[in-house]
Amino acid sequence: MIPQWKIYPRSQGHSTVYLQNVVTDPSISVGDYTIYDDFVNDPRDFQRNNVLYHYPINHERLIIGKFCSIACGAKFLFNSANHTRRSLSTYIFPVLFEEWGLDVEHIPQAWDNKGDIVVGNDVWIGYEAVILAGVTIGDGAIIGARAVVTKDVPPYTIVGGVPAKPIRSRFSQKEIAQLLALKWWDWPYEMISAHLDAIQSGDLERLKQAAERQ
Ligand SMILES: CC(C)(COP(=O)(O)OP(=O)(O)OC[C@H]1O[C@@H](n2cnc3c(N)ncnc32)[C@H](O)[C@@H]1OP(=O)(O)O)[C@@H](O)C(=O)NCCC(=O)NCCS
Repeated sequence: MIPQWKIYPRSQGHSTVYLQNVVTDPSISVGDYTIYDDFVNDPRDFQRNNVLYHYPINHERLIIGKFCSIACGAKFLFNSANHTRRSLSTYIFPVLFEEWGLDVEHIPQAWDNKGDIVVGNDVWIGYEAVILAGVTIGDGAIIGARAVVTKDVPPYTIVGGVPAKPIRSRFSQKEIAQLLALKWWDWPYEMISAHLDAIQSGDLERLKQAAERQ
């Protein structure tokens, strides 16, 4: 657990923040150790600058797991960005309700609602990537720089491009199953710390043995 007061994991600079300690919107949840880096804007303004078209009236959530690395300018585009295709017109008549004598409660009819954005654990989101509403990104996935993610991303898959397509899988299906079973990101700090060398060197066998000893 990171203490609530701790915003900056690095004493040498203030461009990287522990995201869970700068987010105040109850509809955004962020797991332990997940970081956001921003060298253009103040990273503490993530909620305003990076979570876009996200209005309480939609009751949609942004859920981000533990140990994610979110690069500068990555953006999460929520449902109000999707002018509805159910109408004959994409014009936002319901939002401009006063102009058109419409009921304020019908504002959400201006857009199509695809739901929450869910990001797993240990996900790396590249520079200026865009994640669209309704997308789920699996544990261990990598989102390439400037990708536009329109569909779910399987665990430990690298995606890139517009729209984002799989580039390759990071590990074999067997290894992915083992990593998903291990869930090392849920281990206590001491246990992760004691096995950092195995994590960093890609020694899955040693990680499995450590889990079995527990
Ligand atoms: C995706 C990425 C991780 C590379 O993954 P990789 O598996 O090593 O991929 P490679 O470099 O071997 O490239 C494989 C293919 O993907 C393509 N590719 C790589 N990055 C891409 C991207 N961001 N968007 C689209 N295509 C990409 C390559 O052109 C190559 O295509 P080809 O097979 O047609 O030749 C990297 O390119 C990237 O985007 N990293 C994010 C960097 C970043 O934003 N950092 C922010 C600071 S943390």
